[in-house]
Amino acid sequence: MYKAIHRPVLAAETLRLLAPDVRSDALFVDATTGEGGHTELFLSSCPRLTAIALDADARIQEKAKERLACFLPRVTFVRAWFDEFFANYPFERRPDIILFDLGISIFHYERSGGGFSFSKDEPLDMRLDSSNGKSAADLIGGLDERELADLIFRYGEERYSRSIAPALQKALRNGRLKTARAAAEVIAEAVPPAYRRGHLHPATKSFQALRMAVNDEPGRLVRALNGAFSVLNPGGVLGVISFHSLEDRAVKQFMKTKVGERHSVNKYRPSPQFVAAEGELLTPKPVSADAAEIKENPPSRSAKLRVIRKKKDEIE
Ligand SMILES: C[S@@+](CC[C@H](N)C(=O)[O-])C[C@H]1O[C@@H](n2cnc3c(N)ncnc32)[C@H](O)[C@@H]1O
Repeated sequence: MYKAIHRPVLAAETLRLLAPDVRSDALFVDATTGEGGHTELFLSSCPRLTAIALDADARIQEKAKERLACFLPRVTFVRAWFDEFFANYPFERRPDIILFDLGISIFHYERSGGGFSFSKDEPLDMRLDSSNGKSAADLIGGLDERELADLIFRYGEERYSRSIAPALQKALRNGRLKTARAAAEVIAEAVPPAYRRGHLHPATKSFQALRMAVNDEPGRLVRALNGAFSVLNPGGVLGVISFHSLEDRAVKQFMKTKVGERHSVNKYRPSPQFVAAEGELLTPKPVSADAAEIKENPPSRSAKLRVIRKKKDEIE
C-alpha cells in the first residue's frame, strides 16, 4: 500500500464538525484530496459514506488512488480544478459534506519534481496541472518588473519585493534561473543580510506568491467557495482549512456573506443592508491545532478550520 508523506491536519476536529453521524450515507466531496489523508479518515470512520475525491494534480492523485483502492467502489476520483468542478458539477446527487484543505501538500515539496521547494534542483515550474498554463519561470519572464514586484508583495506580503523582482528577472535573462534552488539563491542575495538570518528562509514568501499566481489560487478559491455552496445539499456542511491570512480572509468574508452579515453596498454612500442568511456558522471562531498536534505535525501550526452549514430551506 502507498505510504503517504503528508499528515492530514486538524483530523479530529474536521471529522467532529463535518461528519457527526457515523451511520450516515452522506456524499462527501474532498475538493483537495492530495494523497487522500482526509478522504481516508471519512471513509474509514463512516462505513456508509461515499466520496468524490478531487485534485488538480495528476501526480498526487495517482498516490491517492493507490492508497484508497481498498475503499472502491465507495470512492470516485475526478481530476479537475475545484472552481471548474463546482461550476459544472457533473453528478446528479448533491454533496452533503464538502471539504477544502487549501494549498499544497508535503508531497509537492518532497516528491513531485514540480519545483515547489527552494532546496530542490528541479525546474522552476510550480504548476499543479503541468499539462497547461505558464510555469513560474514563464511568469517571471512575462511580467514587467513592477507587476512582478506587486505580485510578490500582494500574494507573499514580502516587503523586499521591489529588490527581489529585478533580481529574478535579471537571473532569468542570464540563464541562471534553471532550478527552484537557483531562484531561492537569487532571492536570498537580493534581500538584506539580517533578513537572510531570520527564522523563515528568505525565499518562503516569494515562493508562496509565485505558486499562488501560477495556479490562480485566490481567484479559484472565491469562485470555488461560491460554486460549492450552491451545489451543497440544503442542510449540508462546507469546511475550509486555510494556511495563511490571505486565504483565511477570503474564507471568512465568504462565510460572513452567507450568514447574512450586514454590509455596505457603496463605500461613498454607505447604505447598510441585511441579506437573507443562507447558512449558519458552526465555527464562530476558526478552529486551530493544539500544542500536541503542532509538535507532532508542524505544518498544522498555521491551519484554521471554518465550517458553515447550509440552511435547509434553500434560497434559489
Ligand atoms: C493540503 S493538500 C491536501 C491534503 C489532504 N487533505 C490530505 O490529508 O492528504 C491540498 C491539495 O489540493 C490540491 N489543490 C490545490 N488547489 C487546487 C484546485 N484549485 N483545484 C483542485 N485541487 C487543488 C493540491 O494539488 C493538493 O494535492
